[in-house]
Amino acid sequence: MMRTAIYISLTAAIVFLVACNTKKEEQDFGKKQPEAAATAQTPAEKGQEIFEGKGTCTTCHKPDEKVVGPSLKDIATIYKQKGLSVAAFINEESKPVVDPALYETMKANFAITKMMTPEERQNIEAYIMSFAK
Ligand code: HEC
Repeated sequence: MMRTAIYISLTAAIVFLVACNTKKEEQDFGKKQPEAAATAQTPAEKGQEIFEGKGTCTTCHKPDEKVVGPSLKDIATIYKQKGLSVAAFINEESKPVVDPALYETMKANFAITKMMTPEERQNIEAYIMSFAK
């Protein structure tokens, strides 16, 4: 009788432990997935993340319509025609060509973009240039 009670509680303890472990593995598995996806990103995808995230560029730039700043399509098309570099522009190495009259509004953002790494500025360029006609 006593033995049976011990077996039952042991079995319960084992079942409990296995269940906990399985749950932990599931949680860990779930955590690893976004990391794997991040390493597979293209430069344009990384650029989009920066553009919409810490760059806060979407406040003034939308893909198809002019908001405060020119649309990404307009910027990309003009930059492609003229063979210019967005990465150079946002590092203040070249002059505005899209809407120079509003340059002062754009210039305030160089405080953010000049703090970025060259690779991050290249990623933003890849993202914007993906809208070229
Ligand atoms: C406060 C609004 C605002 C924000 C935020 C903003 N821009 Fe602009 N941007 C403008 C305006 C206005 C222009 C038009 C003036 C000009 O052409 O320089 C412009 C122009 C541009 C151009 C075209 C430059 C050219 O040759 O004329 C690029 C490229 C650009 N922005 C990239 C960015 C990126 C990248 C970000 C985010 C880091 C950003 N902008 C954030 C307002 C903004």
